[in-house]
Amino acid sequence: MKVLVIGSGGREHALAWKLAQSPGVKHVWVAPGNGGTELDANLENLPLTDFNELADFAQREGVTLTVVGPDAALAGGVVNVFKSRGLPIFGPTKEAAELEWSKDFAKGFMQRHKIPTAAYATFSDAQEAHAYIDAQGAPIVIKADGLAAGKGVVVAMTLEEAHAAVDSMLEGDRFGAAGSRVVIEEFMQGEEASFFVVSDGKDFVTLSTAQDHKRLLDGDNGPNTGGMGSYAPAPIVSPDVRAKVLSRVVRPTLAGMASEGRPYAGFLYVGLMIDAAGEPRVVEFNARMGDPETQVIMLRLKSDLLPLLQHAAKGALGPDVELEWDRRAALTVILASQGYPDSPRKGDVVHGLPVAPQDDVVVFHAGTTLKDGQLLTSGGRVLCVTALGESIKQAQHRAYEAASTIGFDGMQFRRDIGWRAIKPHH
Ligand code: AMP
Ligand code: GLY
Repeated sequence: MKVLVIGSGGREHALAWKLAQSPGVKHVWVAPGNGGTELDANLENLPLTDFNELADFAQREGVTLTVVGPDAALAGGVVNVFKSRGLPIFGPTKEAAELEWSKDFAKGFMQRHKIPTAAYATFSDAQEAHAYIDAQGAPIVIKADGLAAGKGVVVAMTLEEAHAAVDSMLEGDRFGAAGSRVVIEEFMQGEEASFFVVSDGKDFVTLSTAQDHKRLLDGDNGPNTGGMGSYAPAPIVSPDVRAKVLSRVVRPTLAGMASEGRPYAGFLYVGLMIDAAGEPRVVEFNARMGDPETQVIMLRLKSDLLPLLQHAAKGALGPDVELEWDRRAALTVILASQGYPDSPRKGDVVHGLPVAPQDDVVVFHAGTTLKDGQLLTSGGRVLCVTALGESIKQAQHRAYEAASTIGFDGMQFRRDIGWRAIKPHH
């Protein structure tokens, strides 16, 4: 069997790493991949990004299944292109992925289907947006409507910040076309968690929960990033919270998408805010796996991933799938380049990567590239040092120990990944 993974980040390295372990898999290509997927003896990089060229390749090679990593490819309709040519692919169509690529669509959808989320209003007129903010007060949350690489959200603690965010999104050019509409939301208090399901359009199976750290600096300070680390499972998602998420969010979402003529097949990422009373609300939907949540989830998944995704892609998951999970916890620490997230520097030499495989530790690559046999940084998030442990604390210890030998000029990383799950709860 042959597998093609579309994307080039740490999420795609982790998906490809896991898919390569499926019995019967002969080839796993990652398109375009990164330095780590090129170094990995079980994976091959494929220097293609054009959807038709990818489909030509899949057809020519007889690829068993293509798995899509990033939201941009989904929003661009890569699944539609493959499906129109009868090629097997796992991921939502462009229409289904609108749950992620338009916040306005997602909010309207949740309202139509009574899915708990923050109250909101959408504006394209700056003056109306300013008036709404003054009427609502701070804190308040301002979001650019389209995909903005995780940077289109401003959680404004003051009215000044809120007004400035509207000006920069609607009048400035910060997010290009993505900023021509803004969604303004009620600020939700609580703790966040990431909840994942694999859906075939009708039936679904849940994956491990996880929690990521979006802020750049220790103590959840500094600017938002794509994610500086994560761990799984997320203790905040108790069995009671999980039951609420399934009945109030996951089931109505899948049923609602089907009833609106956009059946949702693919990974569904539900970003949750869970308040002190254990009531979950949706912060956002993503039409893909999380990054860096995938890295920890793939380390914990014991079941074979390929048949699961193949069945889901065919609409043949069935209602009774159960997955087997390592009972241990997993934690990943992101090593990021100088200047991340605003202006990451590229081209620094990476040294000290473990040469021999280590027990229960995997270093997934994100922004790396191989040049003349040398591994160089090539993006903001460079490496994801991922470890299993008997507890989150132990997984944390192992990950930081493994990270301690690795270095490159300007390397930055958080030293407190997992703190919410490790600090004593009262
Ligand atoms: P998003 O891209 O929608 O996930 O937003 C990025 C981050 O902003 C989230 O992970 C939250 O930390 C925060 N956020 C977004 N919406 C809200 C909200 N309504 N209330 C509080 N925090 C929010
Ligand atoms: N870890 C956050 C995301 O993938 O959007």
